[in-house]
Amino acid sequence: METEKKMTYIHEEREPEKEKILIVSYSYSGNTHRIAREIQKLSDGDLCEIYPWQPYPMSFPELLAQVRQEVRSNYRPRLLPQPYFPKEYDVIFVGSPNWCGTIAPPLASWLYHNNLAGKVLLPFSSHCGGVPGNMQRDVERICPKSDVREVLSIINDGGDSLSGRVRLWMEKNKIDL
Ligand SMILES: Cc1cc2nc3c(=O)[nH]c(=O)nc-3n(C[C@H](O)[C@H](O)[C@H](O)COP(=O)(O)O)c2cc1C
Repeated sequence: METEKKMTYIHEEREPEKEKILIVSYSYSGNTHRIAREIQKLSDGDLCEIYPWQPYPMSFPELLAQVRQEVRSNYRPRLLPQPYFPKEYDVIFVGSPNWCGTIAPPLASWLYHNNLAGKVLLPFSSHCGGVPGNMQRDVERICPKSDVREVLSIINDGGDSLSGRVRLWMEKNKIDL
């Protein structure tokens, strides 16, 4: 009886450790952050919203002209400091709106300036149904030593189906829920 009790105890101690999860999100008008918060709710990871040091213009024509220029020149804007360091995490969700068919420069900057070698990266994006782009390829180009998984691509803020879409995608990628 005693031995049986001891063995149960040892078995309980050997539960595998949960992967440490970070969710990094850039959003201009809030849609990508909504997806990020849904991922955070389901994964219980840490949420890191990033912001450029110099805010983008409010007027759409000005914003578009600036973004086109930044994307063309691979500009990596300076970001406001934040307290999360990728070194401490195994799995990192990385989100951005689709801007001109690619990742918005603030997320590109975060990916570029952090050492993400060996990390599992799960890209997610919000878009409006325009130029689709290929976010997985774009993340792989900036982070060639990471294991970049399939992208979760959501129209605008995903509406009522957001939670189900996020859950399915996480299950497909074997993220513990
Ligand atoms: C400068 C700019 C460029 C955009 N380019 C695209 C695009 O190429 N393809 C697309 O589907 N949506 C494009 N969009 C739409 C955004 O991806 C969409 O509105 C998204 O939901 C915004 O996410 P956010 O609220 O997280 O900023 C663009 C929006 C802006 C402001």
